[in-house]
Amino acid sequence: MPRLTISPVDRVFVLTGAGISAESGIPTFRDAGGLWRNYRIEEVASPHAWRRDPRLVWDFYSMRRKVASAAKPNPGHFALATLEQALGDRLFLCTQNVDNLHEQGGARRVHHMHGELFKSRCDSCSLPPFADTSLHESPGEIPRCSCGGKIRPHICWFGETPFELEQIFRALDECSLFIAIGTSGSVEPAASFAAHVAGGARTFYVGPEAPANHAMFDECFLGKAGELLPGLFSC
Ligand code: OAD
Repeated sequence: MPRLTISPVDRVFVLTGAGISAESGIPTFRDAGGLWRNYRIEEVASPHAWRRDPRLVWDFYSMRRKVASAAKPNPGHFALATLEQALGDRLFLCTQNVDNLHEQGGARRVHHMHGELFKSRCDSCSLPPFADTSLHESPGEIPRCSCGGKIRPHICWFGETPFELEQIFRALDECSLFIAIGTSGSVEPAASFAAHVAGGARTFYVGPEAPANHAMFDECFLGKAGELLPGLFSC
C-alpha cells in the first residue's frame, strides 16, 4: 500500500472529483455508465438549457438530488475528514462534486467549486443560495422567487465561472503538497491546478486509472479512493 508522508510544515491542497463518490453509488460523468454518456451537457447543465427548458433542467437535478439523498459517505470521505482533523487549516479541501458526502463524512470546511446540489438560488436577484432538498420535477411548476425570478439549482453550469476561485488560487499558491483524487483531469480550471502548483509542490493522484493530465503529477497511486485513502496519509 502506498504511503504519503505529510510533514508538520506541509500545507495540503486536496482536489476531489466524481471518483471519490463512485463507491457511494453516485455515477461519475465520463466513465462507462457516467452521466454525460446518457445526458447531453448542453441540454441540462448550461445557461442556454435553463433559458430554453428549465423544466428539463430541474428534472435532471431532481434526479441527481434523489440519487445523492440515498448515498452514504465511503471510507475515502472518512479518511479526508480524519486528515482535516489532523491538519486543521493546513488542509484545503476543494471538491468539484456537488453532493454533500464530504460533509456527511465529517469534513467541516469543504470548498465546492462547482456548487451544491442541495442548494438553490434565484436566477434574477441577489437572494443568497439557500438549502433546498425539494424535488422540482415534472409536471410541477418551476419554483419562483418573491422577486418573480425563477429558482435554479446552485450549480456552476458549463459557461459559468466556478465559485471561490480567488480563495482556491490563494490556497494553491500556498500549498506544498497537492493531491487530486478521482477526477479525470479534463475540465478546466481544475484540470490545470496540478500544472499551476507543479515545481513548487509535490503532486499526487489517486484513482483507478491515470487522468488526462497525468504528466503533471509526480506520482499516480492507482486504485479506488475508498481502498487507498484510509491507509495513505502518514502525519
Ligand atoms: P469524471 O467523470 O470526468 O472522472 C471521474 C474519475 O474518477 C475518472 O478518472 C475515474 O477513473 C475516477 N474514478 C472512478 N471510480 C473511482 C474510485 N472508486 N476512486 C477514485 N477514482 C475513481 O469526473 P470529474 O473529473 O469529477 O462539472 O468531472 C469534472 C466535472 O465535469 C464535474 O464536476 C462536472 C462534470 O461535467 C460540472 O457539472 C460543472
